[in-house]
Amino acid sequence: MLTHQLDISNFINLIGLIMALSVVILAAGKGTRMRSALPKVLHPVAEKPMVSHVIDAARQVDSENIYLVYGFGGDVLKAKVTGDDLTFVEQKEQLGTGHAVDMASPFLSDDENVLVLYGDVPLTKVSTLQRLIAAKPDQGMALLTVHLANPTGYGRIMRDSSGTVVGIVEQKDASAEQLLVNEANTGILLANGGDLKRWLANLSSDNAQGEYYLTDIIAACHQEGKLIATAHPDSEIEVEGANNRVQLAGLERAYQLRKAEELMIAGASLRDPNRIDIRGNVTVGQEVVIDVNCIFEGNVDIADNAIIGANCILKDCSIGQGAEIKPNSMVDGAIIGDLASVGPFARIRPGSELMRDSHIGNFVEMKKTRLGEGAKAGHLSYLGDAEIGAQANIGAGTITCNYDGVNKAKTIIGAGAFIGSNASLVAPVTIGKMATTAAGSVIVKNVDDNELSVARGKQRNIAGWKRPTKK
Ligand code: UD1
Ligand code: CA
Repeated sequence: MLTHQLDISNFINLIGLIMALSVVILAAGKGTRMRSALPKVLHPVAEKPMVSHVIDAARQVDSENIYLVYGFGGDVLKAKVTGDDLTFVEQKEQLGTGHAVDMASPFLSDDENVLVLYGDVPLTKVSTLQRLIAAKPDQGMALLTVHLANPTGYGRIMRDSSGTVVGIVEQKDASAEQLLVNEANTGILLANGGDLKRWLANLSSDNAQGEYYLTDIIAACHQEGKLIATAHPDSEIEVEGANNRVQLAGLERAYQLRKAEELMIAGASLRDPNRIDIRGNVTVGQEVVIDVNCIFEGNVDIADNAIIGANCILKDCSIGQGAEIKPNSMVDGAIIGDLASVGPFARIRPGSELMRDSHIGNFVEMKKTRLGEGAKAGHLSYLGDAEIGAQANIGAGTITCNYDGVNKAKTIIGAGAFIGSNASLVAPVTIGKMATTAAGSVIVKNVDDNELSVARGKQRNIAGWKRPTKK
């Protein structure tokens, strides 16, 4: 009998999970307090618009359609946020949150679930939304609420003596007694499409603010004898919005700390989790060490035992096992091989690859260049459009002259070659394997394997030479 009951509840759960889901994101507020021409929801957290974080979360709970209710800056919004699953719905006048959701009503079907989210509340966890979705009763709705030490400004959750939710009262409409309730409405809720449309159609604006309150659907649901289940976020920051740049900066730090914690849980040591900026996706292996003030952008993969020094900027790159990026270096669009080392003060630009155990030292710039296994360029060089063989040694001050003002050309340096200091390698040019070029040479012709090339003015020493004197 017991197993039979479990089977039925599993089945019901499955239906709940399979039921189609649409998401309505409210983003019609003007955001005056941002003091900006940019619509509020486009202000970034971790270099991504707040609303894009919300859209990402919506996608991760398998929404089929996302309706973005906007009021201002429609053109900018449409340019910045895109997707086949996105429909922009204009709310010409901001008549309240209920009116805003109602703008999406013509698109919503009766038999789907509808999740309401907010374009300026970017840090809600997917797991929290999943909890809310799982909490929704078949006949009724689910509401995300939060207990706050100071709930001032929030709508308050009204429960009867048995603890059943019966409604929400807005701050401005609440009695002194109601204001004592510290369970607050986050605004995030889930309802059946048919129910939602019926409740929204019956809203009135007869309240302290003269608005159509979305929150009034809770009482409507209760009056129909349907249930209102509640779920809660893990922390308050998940349901906080940003109205000004101070709050936006607060969300940014909270987001960054969350990302830092993910990296530490994954096996990285952060010298200070409060001094890291992740503006993309970072994956780390075990025993990775990241020193302070590093910025990560795009997709960055860091393998086991790699060390990232202070003040580095890593963008769209992979760092191999045991590799070290020394302080103040930039790596962008490059592959850094196992055990390779870079910096301090190096700049590795897109299309570069450092093979295993190779070394780039201070004040070296590299672009679209492959540095062979064990090869070294220790100091003060520009290496662009070059292929450098294994174990080659590039002397200090070497420049690949890859640009004639119109076209780019390649420099090929063979394995084991030794390029003397302060060489200009005028591309296209090939230096053979185990070849040597003398310091200060301007190499314009190919050098064969094993050859020494000297291409510089001969030294003359003039004995008894008198320095000029002041006239
Ligand atoms: C709302 C809730 C309140 C809750 C609080 C949480 C209502 C009536 N009240 O209050 O219970 O505690 O959020 O932050 O829902 N918006 C539109 N169009 C409109 C009005 C609002 O798109 O016509 C958007 C705003 O841009 C904003 C969001 O809806 O992103 C919330 O609106 P806001 O006016 O800030 O609601 P609150 O008064 O904070
Ligand atoms: Ca608000």
